Amino acid sequence: MNILITGACGFIGSHLVKALQGHTLYLIDDLSTGHKSNLNDLSYEKLYEDDYADEHILSEVFTYKIDCIVHLAAIASVHKCNEDPLNASKVNAGNVLKLILKAKEHGVRTFLFASSAAVYGDEPSLPKTEDSVVKPISLYGIDKFAAEQYVVNYSDDKFRGIACRFFNVFGPNQDPSSPYSGVLSIFTDRTINQKLTSISVFGDGEQTRDFISVFDVVNFLKYCIENQIDPGVYNVATGSSVSLNQVIDQLKIKLNKELNVDYQPARNGDIKYSAADNKKMLQTGYSLSFSFNEAFKGYLDSLNENT
Ligand code: NAD
Ligand code: UD1
Repeated sequence: MNILITGACGFIGSHLVKALQGHTLYLIDDLSTGHKSNLNDLSYEKLYEDDYADEHILSEVFTYKIDCIVHLAAIASVHKCNEDPLNASKVNAGNVLKLILKAKEHGVRTFLFASSAAVYGDEPSLPKTEDSVVKPISLYGIDKFAAEQYVVNYSDDKFRGIACRFFNVFGPNQDPSSPYSGVLSIFTDRTINQKLTSISVFGDGEQTRDFISVFDVVNFLKYCIENQIDPGVYNVATGSSVSLNQVIDQLKIKLNKELNVDYQPARNGDIKYSAADNKKMLQTGYSLSFSFNEAFKGYLDSLNENT
């Protein structure tokens, strides 16, 4: 299959490129947060290093009879979106519509979109099903919801639009460099890479998240590409959540040392409890490869091997 992946040099994108070796891959990434080195040793047909909505790129790439697009490119940080809201909205919503219209014009059959659990906001009912109330509390969440609505509403019998609401994805190559990076990448970078013994927790550590392995995320995307699953919105999650304190306990056991946990005031806009119902995902026939415990152990082992 000819597959176009946007955001291919990022955390999830680079794992997807690896999972889809054997397909003919066209990649777009403006390298704003992604790194070309994430694609070292991987095969692909062509990498365009610019904005995914660039007219020249789009007019060239669609000459290659693209069968499927996986659209991962986004300003993926809530914090960064707030710094430049107009540009963030263009990248995360407006230009997604542009890509969908081009895709339909060129006969693309399948369009997978990286949405986020951020669309649910902090409305308290749990666990979140795809029919739960959507009440985003950030521009990032608002734009993800707008874009997924384009994807789903432009679906028809020739164009299969699937929006995946990723919960908290973790695994190798997640960039820990910002204070707003994924919490597990920050904890492991400090304790394993930098060999520090202190970590900061915002709040009492009892906040919960559904942390899903990046390997299950990309395997589910691959499954959606290679099987005729119905268009629509899917939670992409393990279906069980853990608290930060539970994660820290596991980290201490694995590292076999005490950690100094600095509890600071909760961050403004933080969601306390997040939990997903993943039945719709499992009803597609996809089976998760890892529980959180298994995936977290594997992740820590891989980091330890590299230090
Ligand atoms: P990432 O920042 O590592 O990857 C995003 C990639 O898109 C980067 O390589 C970046 O350079 C590229 N990019 C950004 N703007 C671009 C543009 N205009 N044109 C071309 N390329 C552009 O983030 P990630 O964690 O891999 O996230 C991938 C997708 O999944 C994003 O859409 C994100 O919103 C979504 N998501 C991620 C999580 C998570 O836990 N990581 C959770 C929910 C949703
Ligand atoms: C994540 C996403 C966000 C998305 C949301 C909903 C990332 C980086 N962020 O936010 O884009 O909108 O899910 O799907 O994937 N924390 C600490 N110490 C730290 C860092 C964080 O205690 O050093 C806390 C945070 O305050 C938060 C929790 O850990 O309570 C999780 O943080 P984070 O990994 O940023 O994820 P979300 O807040 O869930």
